[in-house]
Amino acid sequence: MTMLNFVGLSLVVLSAIEAAAVERVEYDYYKYHPMPEISKWMSQMQTDYPDLVHIVDYGKTYEKRTISLLKIGQNTGAKKKAIWMDCGIHAREWIAPAFCQYFVREILKAYKTDPKMQDMMKNMDFYVTPVLNMDGYIYSWSTNRLWRKNRSPGPASCNCSGTDLNRNFDANWGTIGVSDNCCSNIYCGTGPVSEPEAQAVTYFVGSRKEDFLCFLTIHSYGQLLLVPYGHPNYTASNYQELMDVGLAAADAIKKVHGKDYTVGASPDVLYPNSGSSRDWARMSGIPLAYTFELRDNGTFGFKLPEDQIQPTCEEAYSGALHIITYAHDKTFNGAVATAVATLWTILLAVGVTGSSLM
Ligand SMILES: *[C@@H]1O[C@H](CO)[C@@H](O)[C@H](O)[C@H]1NC(C)=O
Ligand SMILES: *[C@@H]1O[C@H](CO)[C@@H](O)[C@H](O)[C@H]1NC(C)=O
Ligand SMILES: *[C@@H]1O[C@H](CO)[C@@H](O)[C@H](O)[C@H]1NC(C)=O
Ligand SMILES: [Zn+2]
Repeated sequence: MTMLNFVGLSLVVLSAIEAAAVERVEYDYYKYHPMPEISKWMSQMQTDYPDLVHIVDYGKTYEKRTISLLKIGQNTGAKKKAIWMDCGIHAREWIAPAFCQYFVREILKAYKTDPKMQDMMKNMDFYVTPVLNMDGYIYSWSTNRLWRKNRSPGPASCNCSGTDLNRNFDANWGTIGVSDNCCSNIYCGTGPVSEPEAQAVTYFVGSRKEDFLCFLTIHSYGQLLLVPYGHPNYTASNYQELMDVGLAAADAIKKVHGKDYTVGASPDVLYPNSGSSRDWARMSGIPLAYTFELRDNGTFGFKLPEDQIQPTCEEAYSGALHIITYAHDKTFNGAVATAVATLWTILLAVGVTGSSLM
């Protein structure tokens, strides 16, 4: 009897210890996660970093799911500049949501020790949407791994569902590289911004577009950094800057694992298109708008194996950080600010106080 009780008690204690251990298990950034796990992860980030991370709901999908982003930065009370990043606008490009999550973890990790990241989070907020096309992403897990579009029904005359959200933005909408057949993977919808997911981004970013220095939209695959515009008859006014910064980002990417990324406007290096969110962002006045097409270059395509998540994220982080740092320093004159900070450190070290300075 006593023995039995002891065994019973030990089992209870053991399972309590196990349960606690399970709860503290680290999130695995090198696996693909279904939507409910990503949503839970978002809440966890807000809980873990209450001073820096806030969930912002900014729209509904066709199936009435709430679209949310993580707003990351110091709460300075001042109006801040901003960086946009969205992932998962195309459902089947699973490496993209994996990258957004990795990106969030890395900037929060860097913030703890890196004065540059602290400076950037003081001056700017990062708005990161891990999965924009939630309905499509869920459908790609449940029903059709290679689903691309959202899940809204086509017009009454058509039996297929789904609009290509990256052809639905108000940027030369419907003119090139699209289809008006609702069964097509590049169906552009019934009109510019007809889709709720495209509306969410358009209204949220559009309402504070002068704050955004940078608009990064993450896709796969092809190993490309695409600059505006998708329409071959238009060239961005800062095309040379976009190319210079993009080429330097590709260099940064290559340094990490040796992978080549091609930089250019979509008609020059991929195919012409219209209605992309990147083009809309640039046309709205956001200077540094890029599409990342992550790994690979066709071997596995959309079904990139999980053992490539880590290297893909590491190199893409380096490229994204290059663009973001450029945007930050151009606006906040980082070099001068650092020099001033250094000068102050020296003056303080030699005992010069504020009262002796003109
Ligand atoms: C839609 O489905 C109906 C019934 O299955 C069929 O008769 C019709 O041809 C289809 N229309 C298109 C555009 O595929
Ligand atoms: C681009 O401009 C050329 C020359 O004006 C014109 O023929 C062509 O239709 C335009 N392309 C598109 C996609 O509008
Ligand atoms: C990717 O593959 C295409 C087609 O084979 C090729 O043209 C392109 O140069 C490759 N890109 C890179 C970065 O290796
Ligand atoms: Zn895509």
